[in-house]
Amino acid sequence: MRAALYERHGSASEVMRVEEVATPEPGPGEVRVKVSYSGVNPTDWKSRGGSTPRPIDDFQIPHHDGAGVIDAVGEGVAPERIGQRVWVWLAAAGRRWGTAAEWTVVPEQQVVPLPDQHSFELGASLGVPAMTAHRCLFADGPVEGKTILVAGGAGAVGHFAIELAKFYGARVITTVSGAEKAELAKNAGADLVVNYREPSAVEEIRAFGHVDRIVEVALGANLRLDLAVLKPLGEIITYAAEPDDPALPVRACMNANVIMRFVLLYGVPRDALAHAARDITAALTSGALSELPVHKFSLDEIVASHDAVQNSAVGKVLIAPA
Ligand SMILES: NC(=O)c1ccc[n+]([C@@H]2O[C@H](COP(=O)([O-])OP(=O)(O)OC[C@H]3O[C@@H](n4cnc5c(N)ncnc54)[C@H](OP(=O)(O)O)[C@@H]3O)[C@@H](O)[C@H]2O)c1
Repeated sequence: MRAALYERHGSASEVMRVEEVATPEPGPGEVRVKVSYSGVNPTDWKSRGGSTPRPIDDFQIPHHDGAGVIDAVGEGVAPERIGQRVWVWLAAAGRRWGTAAEWTVVPEQQVVPLPDQHSFELGASLGVPAMTAHRCLFADGPVEGKTILVAGGAGAVGHFAIELAKFYGARVITTVSGAEKAELAKNAGADLVVNYREPSAVEEIRAFGHVDRIVEVALGANLRLDLAVLKPLGEIITYAAEPDDPALPVRACMNANVIMRFVLLYGVPRDALAHAARDITAALTSGALSELPVHKFSLDEIVASHDAVQNSAVGKVLIAPA
């Protein structure tokens, strides 16, 4: 099969190439998926580039996310799964068979049915962003009846955080940096969209009511705003690191009795990931999850696709391997 791969860490143009490798066979408990779209996330260029390196087993086909059709199953997997439309999560975590190839092999628990009414583009957008959004929203309990602030609601994680929070009964406030992103956040269903660059941001959020929980993409940049709008004993859940670590205003955090949580998808317990996949499927089946604008690349454009994500493309970057 044709696959994009690298054998060492480095810039995309230095280390990535497309070549023929043996098509993998599914082992016990695994399925093979013919990939329609592979979804690119920031973690993919960070792993490849070496800023957050992950071990390479001889070679690494990048990308955790993808969607396609199961065409072979390993021992112990129901043969009825062959022909199923699916989306996959964490395909490349500790494995060389990422989704940037014509086929991937993945443990069957990480391969989730994709309802017929939903596109492969949406399926390939879910994995890392939707699973991360779910963990941030629900690790501290249900969101029903709560007011959730999603920082950066036009980002991939932010988008699914808005949609999942709405589906599970929350009121959602989100912050963005401008009009184009405000439109995306409104389309996702946010009840209030605020430009965090405006001096009135805190007042606009306060006028809407106190915030119970914050899904945070930029803790250092936003902590002042977060502490100004969060109710006492509220939670801030951070899933992204900024270039410089913030200095923590301890007294202000104590005054708010704030609870802080940090999330890294690679270390989330397996049962929580399985729970996330079930909840995402329920939301998907009900039509509550939608696509961001997509930017499509061919497999031969793998370098450009990584550069697009690294340069903060608005929307989802996808690769069509065939
Ligand atoms: N911990 C994990 O397991 C995990 C999982 C997924 C992603 N991540 C990380 O999370 C980050 C976002 O990933 P993504 O795929 O969602 O990226 P993305 O689609 O590029 O979205 C990032 C969003 O954050 C917004 N943003 C940046 N600074 C902000 C600020 N101060 N306040 C509010 N919004 C701000 C950006 O818009 P503006 O710049 O226009 O504001 C953009 O919309 C990346 O660093 C990624 O590596 C971590």
